[in-house]
Amino acid sequence: MAWQSGQSLYGDRYTIRKKLGQGGFGITYLAEDEQGQPVVIKTLTDEIMNSLDDTGDHDKFLRDFEKEALSLALCRHPHIVQIENFFTHQGLPCIVMEYVAGLDLGKRLRQQGALPEAEAVRYVQQVADGLRVIHQKGRLHRDIKPQNIMVRANTQEAVLIDFGIAREFLPDVTQTHTRAATDGFAPIEQYDNQARRGEFTDVYALAATLSTLITGANPPPSFIRVVKDRFKVPDNCSAAVRTAIEQGMALEPEARPGTVGAWLTLLPSLQVQPQPSPPEPKASPLQVPARYQRLAELLKAGDWRGADAETTQQMLAVANRTEEGWLDIKSIDNFPCEDLRAIDQLWVHYSQGRFGFSVQKRIYQALGGTKGSQQKVWDAFRDAVGWRKGRKFPDITFNIKAEEGHLPLGLSCRWVGEYSGITLLF
Ligand SMILES: Nc1ncnc2c1ncn2[C@@H]1O[C@H](COP(=O)(O)OP(=O)(O)O)[C@@H](O)[C@H]1O
Ligand SMILES: [Mg+2]
Repeated sequence: MAWQSGQSLYGDRYTIRKKLGQGGFGITYLAEDEQGQPVVIKTLTDEIMNSLDDTGDHDKFLRDFEKEALSLALCRHPHIVQIENFFTHQGLPCIVMEYVAGLDLGKRLRQQGALPEAEAVRYVQQVADGLRVIHQKGRLHRDIKPQNIMVRANTQEAVLIDFGIAREFLPDVTQTHTRAATDGFAPIEQYDNQARRGEFTDVYALAATLSTLITGANPPPSFIRVVKDRFKVPDNCSAAVRTAIEQGMALEPEARPGTVGAWLTLLPSLQVQPQPSPPEPKASPLQVPARYQRLAELLKAGDWRGADAETTQQMLAVANRTEEGWLDIKSIDNFPCEDLRAIDQLWVHYSQGRFGFSVQKRIYQALGGTKGSQQKVWDAFRDAVGWRKGRKFPDITFNIKAEEGHLPLGLSCRWVGEYSGITLLF
């Protein structure tokens, strides 16, 4: 049953405002968070949930769904919608994501017809750049098409939405009753449950999207093309774009560029334009309190190991726990915010946003973590920031190329059995 406006979810954290859309798999709602900020919540349809009950695969499906949602939450890119949270409400899995104010390209095509080539290429390049992050994490989008690309209002910034999360691991029975692929954009392998998918699967959909944006018409379904190929590469575009569409939409997966990066090289060298940089605190001169001068120097010199040790040392000194070498609940509760912020700012500044407690906190929250979360979230967090090996002490890489949020290691917070300063930030 669809939720009505005013319905509250997840212990009043979110309130439904209206339904944005309903497809074969999911229902998408506009909602508000506790601060009154708009968010989008996506859940599954009753039909899908009922058919899962029939197959008895319900629990496995929910586990897979959550795993995929958490993994996508870690894909941060200006052209990928940011997943903010995941929860279940009365057995329904719900994904909370950023609300993108603007129009999706499907609506835009219906309202205004085909796009100028340069604009179409720009959006597709942006989305492709974001896709690379998804592919790097070993995930696929699986449903790229104009309707799943939003353009932020009053800008030319595209954002890819609607990951086909549920599709691939629904039991076969369910898949046959629902459309697991979008005709015109899905390559042949997506119509065969047994066939191998890969980055080349998204490449096909991306090239089909580019063709659609330029011509205003959807390509014929790939399963029809296999029988008789009436698809015509648009002739109202540049030679490079024609080649990119032709190669990207090759029917056989092996004939397509194997990665989005390889496909992108076929497009004109119109670069993805850098985002207008948000006003960053680092634009103002960095204030370094005397206590943290040495930390700043170490960070500036790229001595990540030294900086990490210095961070630990200073935090213990601030908390008056140098002798003990770890923080107890009292010292965590009383830890001065200014100190925490100063340390964090230095790390964020010198790592160009890669390391720092606030970076760790963002990742932790994206994984559904709150103060005192269960072990499961900690494990996912540890995995995300690359503290994989060994349960007792994480395996640390003192290198800027380490995972986002990998440093600083921070302090041993024995009461949670963890080695992170983020507990201090709640
Ligand atoms: N994060 C978002 N911000 C703004 N609008 C969105 C967002 N996600 C979805 N929408 C709107 O809702 C429509 C349907 O959502 P979508 O996630 O694509 O689900 P489905 O295609 O399964 O119905 C989209 O085409 C878009 O217009
Ligand atoms: Mg959609």
